[in-house]
Amino acid sequence: MVRVRGAIIIFVLILLAIPAAWSQSLGNAATEQRINALIQQMTLDEKVGQLVQYSSANGQTEGQVRDGKVGSLFNVLGAQTTNDLQKIALEKSRLKIPILFGYDVIHGYRTTFPVPIASAGSFDPELIEASERIAAKEASAAGVKWVFAPMLDIARDPRWGRMVEGPGQDPYLASVIAAARVRGFQGQNMADPESVVASAKHYVAYGAAEGGRDYNTVDISEQLLREVYLPPFHAAVKAGVGTIMASFEDLNGVPATANHHTLGDILRGEWNFQGMVVSDYGAVDELMQHGVAGDEAMASLKAISAGVDMDMADGAYGRTLASLVQSGKLPVSVLDEAVRRVLRIKFAAGIFDHPYTDPSREKTEILTPENLTVARKLAQESIVLLRNQNNILPLNKNAGTIAVIGPLADDQADQLGPWAGQGKAEDAVTPLQGIKSKVPNAKVIYAKGVDLEDFPSNSTVSGAAPAPATATGASGAHGTGSASIPDAVEAANKADVVVMFLGELAGMTGEASSRATLNLPGKQKELLEAVVATGKPVVLVLESGRPLDIRWANDHVSAIMQGWFLGVQAGNAIADVLFGDVSPSARLPLSWPLSVGQIPIYYDHKNTGRPTSPDRWHTGYLDESSQPLFPFGYGLTYTTFKYGNLHVENSGISAKGDLHVTAEIQNTGTREATEVVQLYVHDRVAPTSRPVKELKGFSRVTLAPGASKAVSFTVHGEDLGSYDPQMKWIVPPGTYDVWIGPSSAEGLHGTFDVTPE
Ligand code: NOJ
Repeated sequence: MVRVRGAIIIFVLILLAIPAAWSQSLGNAATEQRINALIQQMTLDEKVGQLVQYSSANGQTEGQVRDGKVGSLFNVLGAQTTNDLQKIALEKSRLKIPILFGYDVIHGYRTTFPVPIASAGSFDPELIEASERIAAKEASAAGVKWVFAPMLDIARDPRWGRMVEGPGQDPYLASVIAAARVRGFQGQNMADPESVVASAKHYVAYGAAEGGRDYNTVDISEQLLREVYLPPFHAAVKAGVGTIMASFEDLNGVPATANHHTLGDILRGEWNFQGMVVSDYGAVDELMQHGVAGDEAMASLKAISAGVDMDMADGAYGRTLASLVQSGKLPVSVLDEAVRRVLRIKFAAGIFDHPYTDPSREKTEILTPENLTVARKLAQESIVLLRNQNNILPLNKNAGTIAVIGPLADDQADQLGPWAGQGKAEDAVTPLQGIKSKVPNAKVIYAKGVDLEDFPSNSTVSGAAPAPATATGASGAHGTGSASIPDAVEAANKADVVVMFLGELAGMTGEASSRATLNLPGKQKELLEAVVATGKPVVLVLESGRPLDIRWANDHVSAIMQGWFLGVQAGNAIADVLFGDVSPSARLPLSWPLSVGQIPIYYDHKNTGRPTSPDRWHTGYLDESSQPLFPFGYGLTYTTFKYGNLHVENSGISAKGDLHVTAEIQNTGTREATEVVQLYVHDRVAPTSRPVKELKGFSRVTLAPGASKAVSFTVHGEDLGSYDPQMKWIVPPGTYDVWIGPSSAEGLHGTFDVTPE
């Protein structure tokens, strides 16, 4: 009896130790018992097999699955294909442990949504969640049960090509989005047939690569790590994310794949993460290149000891872990713990009980009209209006003749953006198609202007991601029509208004796609200058995965919209906004640099002892402003909003209390539109220097002309804190600034005090 009561107490203690989100899906004693029973039956080789993941399946794979030598496969798609392999695991392998099928679902599976940097600008977590729900449904219909997303790397350097895959620059916005994406993928329950297990990546600080060069060294302070790069991952863990992917880079001298501090102390220690950690592609073997392992066995030992449970693609664990255990270098308890975490995820994913995918789902759930509706709405909400001189936009539907010019205007494949999953070029609506169907009675003339060609690639490094599904193969094969600047000028001369589509090809951003300049590639600037010289009103729509150097355009073009890569409904969404059926509402999730020399540039910088001033002996440049071209949070729309009556309801709060701030927002223009109201704070005096502003809240508010609304924010005192020099989280007492405004550069100002405990 005493023994039974002891066991119950231990069980309750275990449950209490597991975070709330996990308690629904993982913290279940019966499951833990099943896991332990399995581990007891497993041979050393079978244990190692669970930690091995291969990319794609070849002739050998069936044998490996039968022998229990594979825990997971990725890039294996389709209900039939995955079911066939699963059948081998369940009917032919000794212990009948199902395979977990993974895939990169970065912005949609077949229904391609806007790239993540674009949808981050929607500041609309509910819609982002809805898009991931659809991505989960489509991916799971094709046998995928685990996605390598969300990508949560903060990026302050637009030279880094992977900025396109992430949430942008701000830790608060990124954290809200992280939770939304995890909820969308995993749903209420990862075991639901329409849910997938998410993987927050790349843990951690991968986006801080020196010089913006992908895979490059990261050397940052513990404070920067904790205050900027870790928060989105913590938010994902709090939202119950099932898995984490360790990143490629060397982090403060210890590669992230072998980093006890980030994986052990923080992720599993401080955050009590119970899920599984997977390496990035080939990253275990790369510990040898990093120079922290002399051979593959040492690489495996370092990775698994640091807490990397599953080895992606390189087979290092498969070749070395068993002998490491046999020689006594790797305690079997460490191996067992990794196996336990893998099995725990497989149980949570429900694949022990429902291992097969119903093949009929592939026909009915993919690329449905409902999915396309969400893709169009998210694309509309991701377009940022940067400039609108003399309110040239929205265009009149009876505008007469419209010249549509540029290499991206009628290019289906590149609308999808990089890493578009199973997105197909033929599903994408180009801007030219979108405009033509929006204004069927207008005269629309198209001219490509110039060809846009992929940069020559010298990268054949193993471990690089497979070429994006959007790649069209031969260079120069992007878009339709023949390229000629004189033809484009002629088209402009015949038109009443010109809409140009310039920017980057999808393959110019993404993994291993860093750039040293932010120039418009190829001869696009020449094209732009020639068209602007016609004197016709020009609207420039930029499609790119990063902010480009558009100083010339900003001085000479009437209107500019940032269209990023908007996915399958790109052309329709762009036309909806161009012609005013929808007012633009997105905001920049980053500071847009004037020039590459300003990088890194971010709004939440420190004040320094000599803050920027016209006086020379202050921080700044001799030959360039320190200000961005457009600040974080910036974006225009087709109306104007007035901010008034800032009210700090409680000007003295304790660290345990809540701050309440309200402002009144009024639509003072003539069109309905949505304002992204933003709240920023600044702690004036703290043990460590604080950013000049930090986003702590935002709200999308839609108002009819003339209407106004009091918009209220609540900020928990705890969330106003910062790390002290000993890296302890504190909420320093004293005076804080607070702003409510339309961007990080404007807003109504107030103050409040945090009282000592
Ligand atoms: C490498 C990338 O860094 C990662 O994001 C991706 O999930 C894996 N390859 C698998 O494709």
